[in-house]
Amino acid sequence: MQSREISQAVIRRLPRYYRYLGELLENGVERISSNDLSKRMKVTASQIRQDLNNFGGFGQQGYGYNVKYLYTEIGKILGLEENHNMIIIGAGNLGQALANYAAFEKRGFILKGIFDVNPVLKGVSIRGVNIRMMDELSEFVKNNDVEIAALTIPKDKAIEVANVLVDNGVRAIWNFAHTDLNLPENIIVENVHLSESLMRLSYNICRYNEEHKR
Ligand code: NAI
Repeated sequence: MQSREISQAVIRRLPRYYRYLGELLENGVERISSNDLSKRMKVTASQIRQDLNNFGGFGQQGYGYNVKYLYTEIGKILGLEENHNMIIIGAGNLGQALANYAAFEKRGFILKGIFDVNPVLKGVSIRGVNIRMMDELSEFVKNNDVEIAALTIPKDKAIEVANVLVDNGVRAIWNFAHTDLNLPENIIVENVHLSESLMRLSYNICRYNEEHKR
């Protein structure tokens, strides 16, 4: 398949398609119409057709989508066919929760190391990965082909640490610290804010309550 520029809005929706198609595959479904996919995903059928048309004609009139094919192609677009070596910086509550989540590996995100400054944590093993101290970071990143670093440290330390990571060759930051990192353009940053998701939830609760008052 030809790779071409796809809008970020579509890219943001792809993981959801991927997840649904994965579930269909697990349930032995071989093909699905955009209408059925639409009902399951609560996205309009025309949105689905529009999104998936970005990747060529996966769907066929009267047949629908071949689930396995579509799943594989979306996986390729999302870069999930390759492994991505990852480290976690900050082995506190959130860092340890991420490290304990084995499903990332299923998607090719391989946890290579966990780092912290707290000596009490040194050598503690999470799913077989030992927590190391930050003075080992540079050498480790260079020797382990680390592509992604998850930042789960206090926000006042995040910029300084992100710069050290980039200087040592890390290409992408999964940033959980609530601060903008302002890194060079060639560094890919994905900011994650669970509280934003919670605020959307709150908005929908309020909207629901308003509508059911009448
Ligand atoms: P925590 O206090 O349990 O863990 C932070 C860890 O970072 C500690 O183990 C500490 O020793 C370590 N640390 C501090 N400075 C460091 C440095 N320079 N280098 C390496 N390690 C360092 O905190 P928690 O709850 O795990 O939160 C971590 C960060 O994630 C905070 O910035 C918090 O605001 C943020 N957070 C973000 C969420 C999101 O949705 N984006 C959700 C929850 C937390």
